[in-house]
Amino acid sequence: MRMRKKKNGPARMQACADYLLDSGQMEQACEGKELRIEIGCGKGTFLLESAEREPDVFFVGIERVFGAALLAAEKLREAQTPNACVMLGDVMSLSENFPAHRVSRIYLNFSDPWPKARHAKRRLTYRTFLAEYKKLLAPDGAILFKTDNVQLFEFSLQEFEESGFLLRNRTDDLHASKWEADNIHTEYEDNFSAKGFSIHRVEAYLD
Ligand SMILES: C[S@@+](CC[C@H](N)C(=O)[O-])C[C@H]1O[C@@H](n2cnc3c(N)ncnc32)[C@H](O)[C@@H]1O
Repeated sequence: MRMRKKKNGPARMQACADYLLDSGQMEQACEGKELRIEIGCGKGTFLLESAEREPDVFFVGIERVFGAALLAAEKLREAQTPNACVMLGDVMSLSENFPAHRVSRIYLNFSDPWPKARHAKRRLTYRTFLAEYKKLLAPDGAILFKTDNVQLFEFSLQEFEESGFLLRNRTDDLHASKWEADNIHTEYEDNFSAKGFSIHRVEAYLD
């Protein structure tokens, strides 16, 4: 995601300090609630709506781009959302930041496709990342993945299966499917959908 340098970044960050948390603060804020995370939450539209729909669940958006994380945190602050926060950081440090087997859902929404074969290991559904997600997921946990990118989708299905995940509720046209009724659109989703791309979605379970 391309982002201009944010004007007044430090001051704005300070203003939404209650929503831009580190791992210790996040654990406190979560208070034993069911925990779900979105990796690469962008500007936070999905995060906010998810939290509003499910007040008994705590949602954490992980985002490595400062400008996007800031916008997401500002969105949560404006809505005074009590059950969500943003963590500025990279997927690589997940297991340092979350207790083992505590997360019930990991959302991967429109992850960067990294189309070149030599960059396959950077895709967030590459097997080394899946191994990290397994450490976080509760026994009945799942990864919910959606993308407009057919090549990334096919690659991911294979990675999920080879990593021992069980695939359920797959669709190659989410917006025309029965799952659309509960689907929360992301910024990229609306963008790609408006351009005529159909949206692929699958749930990958540990068990
Ligand atoms: C294509 S955008 C999708 C944003 C949002 N999920 C949506 O659907 O509108 C991918 C997002 O993932 C973030 N991202 C990519 N790799 C990441 C990583 N390794 N750790 C954390 N965030 C990452 C990017 O900064 C970007 O905001």
